[in-house]
Amino acid sequence: MISPIIFIFSLLLSSCHAAVQDFCVADFTAPESPAGSACKKAATVTADDFVFSGLGIAGNTSNLIKAAVTSAFAAQFPALNGLGISLARLDLALDGVVPFHTHPGGSEILIVEKGTICAGFVSSANTVYFEQLVKGDIMVFPQGLLHFQVNSGRIPAVAYASFSSASPGLQITDYVLFANDLPTELVAATTFLDITQIKKLKGVLGGTG
Ligand SMILES: *[C@@H]1O[C@H](CO)[C@@H](O)[C@H](O)[C@H]1NC(C)=O
Repeated sequence: MISPIIFIFSLLLSSCHAAVQDFCVADFTAPESPAGSACKKAATVTADDFVFSGLGIAGNTSNLIKAAVTSAFAAQFPALNGLGISLARLDLALDGVVPFHTHPGGSEILIVEKGTICAGFVSSANTVYFEQLVKGDIMVFPQGLLHFQVNSGRIPAVAYASFSSASPGLQITDYVLFANDLPTELVAATTFLDITQIKKLKGVLGGTG
């Protein structure tokens, strides 16, 4: 005969078990709700869902900034959905730079794997913090603050960045100002730059207006 205590204990265990949601692998084919993405049915989730391959491959740095960011955010790696973490690989060719940018959704911690990177950020008090980082050094960039990374060495540099969000987002200041149709007069009024310089940068970055 099962003792009443064991019976109650096993009831508690089973109800706890039912209440725990271990993961929510995002199902991007289903509509998004205010609560976020729908979850893939647990029965269809496999080990492959929890593995992302691709950060072992160098990104293509043949571009204006001579840099490439390969993201493993929730959009690329749906198993991260709801877990509050993500990762990216940063490749910086010689003279490569990730211009001033922010991740509105999370803080970043960067570890240098190869080369030398000058990295820094500016606080909301407008104080500048920057350092030369070498292999094994890590630097943290608090959430929302503008920061940059520049290859300051003589070989291509590689770093990995981890974020306190599954979808930290990326907003690059130069692109905000010069890669869209924000009217040139408004860019001038809000930045104090002159029209000639703004038009030149819009030409390089693809902006209009
Ligand atoms: C890298 O990007 C450039 C510019 O978009 C392109 O011409 C080139 O084919 C790409 N290289 C590789 C290996 O994909």
